[in-house]
Amino acid sequence: MLSEETLERGERERVLETPCGPVAYGLENVIVKVTSISDIDGERGILWYRGYRIDELARHSTYEETAYLLLYGRLPSRRELEDFRGRLLASMELSPVTVSILRELAGVHPMFAMESALAAEGAFDSENQRLSEALKQGKYSAAEMKLAIKVAERLIAKLPIIVAWHYRLSRRLDVIKPREDLSYAANILYVMSGREPDPIMTRGMDLFLVLHADHEIPASTFAALVTASTFSDMYSVIVTALAALKGPLHGGANEAALANYMRVGDPAKAKDVVEAAAKPKGPRLAGVGHRVYRTYDPRAAILREFFTREFLPKFGDPDGLFSIASAIEREVLNHPYFQQRRLYPNVDFWSGILLHYMGVPREYFTPMFAVSRVAGWLAHALEYWENNRILRPRACYVGPRDLKYVLIDER
Ligand code: CMC
Repeated sequence: MLSEETLERGERERVLETPCGPVAYGLENVIVKVTSISDIDGERGILWYRGYRIDELARHSTYEETAYLLLYGRLPSRRELEDFRGRLLASMELSPVTVSILRELAGVHPMFAMESALAAEGAFDSENQRLSEALKQGKYSAAEMKLAIKVAERLIAKLPIIVAWHYRLSRRLDVIKPREDLSYAANILYVMSGREPDPIMTRGMDLFLVLHADHEIPASTFAALVTASTFSDMYSVIVTALAALKGPLHGGANEAALANYMRVGDPAKAKDVVEAAAKPKGPRLAGVGHRVYRTYDPRAAILREFFTREFLPKFGDPDGLFSIASAIEREVLNHPYFQQRRLYPNVDFWSGILLHYMGVPREYFTPMFAVSRVAGWLAHALEYWENNRILRPRACYVGPRDLKYVLIDER
């Protein structure tokens, strides 16, 4: 249990000694499944998807190829990739009910709109319902796996359209259909802005999507697994994941990081901001620290390099955000507080600036994260179903027992 001394210092225990034995708070280092989808070496700063290093995928793969790899377990041939792209494109549509929900929810935070729209869309996907029925009867063999992949592809296709159409409807603009000649990443920017994006902007979006597509078992993937393990339907699995992603300790961090750079406004103030975060009970520096990485997040390194090699030479740093973030990064890397705790910039440290420069408003950052991560969530749910067991942990009860019940008028 938490000691009074601990509570006074405002610290939190990580492993609680309880009458039932040690309890790892935050499930730190608790293993919930075996997987061949992704792996992280937090000490060396390496991330693999299906055995391929993230830096190789970032260099050579598009998001479509990455999503295929995550779902099917191997890289596609050129023909398979073309077919996959065609299927995604053909599924990028929404039911009229979903569109009217998006219209009604124009102007609200897009994560709420996404959750509602996706839940509604699931009700109109007959294969989603059919799969749910089969799962209820305990069936998950080759036919159901095939069906699950079909539904998964549709979810990957629909998510960016939900986000982009909510963006347009919130601005009283007509919705735009994706174009067959554009890649998945280019189409996202196109259906939002209505303009064909610059190739470097498309590359930036593709990179963002590839880097966020999976990350072992963060809170949102765990939440998705909890719902999947009850044999709920696939749309509900993703709605659950969206709800978990929405929190500022997870998907919301890039939004918070960008807000911080804008507030700081000047690289000369970086030192003060980092000093404040290093004080006891100081505000946490968004985009810094990670449960697994004890070194520089490899995804952050890839984004940083993209800025310096490709983005800045063509577009510069119009709002000065890259230089503010670079100054904060320098202070963090040299500060004993961050060094001792091994806290380094994570992917969100840079991704907010990238999205901002691509014209994505701040409240759409987490939705964009979801547009990418949906591939990972689905891959994990499908993998879990191959050996499903309902996720049902225990709690160690430390409250009183058998209290004498006092009637309400006598209390
Ligand atoms: N700024 C200042 N101090 C920090 C920070 C930070 N960003 N992150 C952790 N710390 C301190 C924390 O106060 C604690 O100090 P002490 O030992 O003195 O109590 C120590 O570092 C360990 O922190 P923790 O809360 O036990 O670490 P955690 O593994 O539970 O939390 C985290 C990980 C990512 C939630 C946390 O680092 C954080 O809040 N970071 C800022 C938000 C953020 O950037 N989130 C995005 C994460 S990456 C998303 C992804 O991979 O998809």
